[in-house]
Amino acid sequence: MNYSLQLEKGHQPVTEDCGRIFNGNGSLLPGITIDKYHDSLLIQYFSSDYCEEIGVICKSSLDLFSKFYPISSIWYKDRTILKHVKSMAEKRESIHYWGSEDRFIQVRHNGCICTVDLVSGQNPGIFMDMREIRNCLTEYYPQVDSLVNLFCYTSLFSVHALANGVSKAVNVDTSKQVLLRSQENYRNNNLVVDSRDFIHEDSGRYLKRMYKRKETCDLVFYDPPTFSRNKKFHYSVKSDYRNHLDLISTISNRYVLTAINSYSVSKDEYLSYHPRSWEMLFFKNEARDFLNPHDPYLKCALWQVNN
Ligand SMILES: C[S@@+](CC[C@H](N)C(=O)[O-])C[C@H]1O[C@@H](n2cnc3c(N)ncnc32)[C@H](O)[C@@H]1O
Repeated sequence: MNYSLQLEKGHQPVTEDCGRIFNGNGSLLPGITIDKYHDSLLIQYFSSDYCEEIGVICKSSLDLFSKFYPISSIWYKDRTILKHVKSMAEKRESIHYWGSEDRFIQVRHNGCICTVDLVSGQNPGIFMDMREIRNCLTEYYPQVDSLVNLFCYTSLFSVHALANGVSKAVNVDTSKQVLLRSQENYRNNNLVVDSRDFIHEDSGRYLKRMYKRKETCDLVFYDPPTFSRNKKFHYSVKSDYRNHLDLISTISNRYVLTAINSYSVSKDEYLSYHPRSWEMLFFKNEARDFLNPHDPYLKCALWQVNN
């Protein structure tokens, strides 16, 4: 296989600081993606066919992409399906291939500065496929004073909203680690860090508490994983999504952004979870550099809540 040729054919030039410069989902190298974070490349392979070849793919990427971008490091990550879940965290760590070994770097995304960890986790800290959705939200922020960001991850939705004029954001996640990373992203963007705005809690329980206390806000972000479980919390789209949106109906005074990030939930099923009285303001799939032309995985819409 001539990887250089295939990589060149599938190269998606990125002018922003970060983005997907190669998306094998088309036809060229299915199961290979290459993301650029400032001047670092993260190559991921989702098919075990590439296990033996990954060194050659990294070398071909370095030779090719250095012609287009200044490259300071290359990392790769095994994203093949794992049989032994115990080894997950270790296997999902990226392996350094070339250049600088700095794993934490800062990148600009949607006009905000975000710290990326090139080594740990399935995602280094930014869901870049949300780029166009965040941009679309900007025109609605003038009507938003306060927001609640459920399943907040590194809180980029909040950082983007606060940097664009929203006054108050509360971020909720069951991972203490991502809440710390959220605070770092606030600091990166000179936003005031108040520890009361970072809540280590199950999103469903937090919603119920807001409901009981009759607390409201102007915008809710609801972008959950399809399924998650730990010792204390359990979440699944199939059993919780609709119930949570019913609660949010009473909590949001104005807008709700909802998302489903999975091929397993169709657009029709996603739409069916929403209260009938809500009005859709826009609907979007993943950003263009992530798009699988035949089958988008991301379904995301901004809704106006009419009570
Ligand atoms: C799909 S990501 C959210 C992405 C985020 N909205 C963004 O755009 O960056 C999933 C997040 O949900 C968190 N999570 C999983 N189960 C949860 C639960 N029951 N309550 C709150 N957070 C949860 C995970 O820790 C993870 O940070």
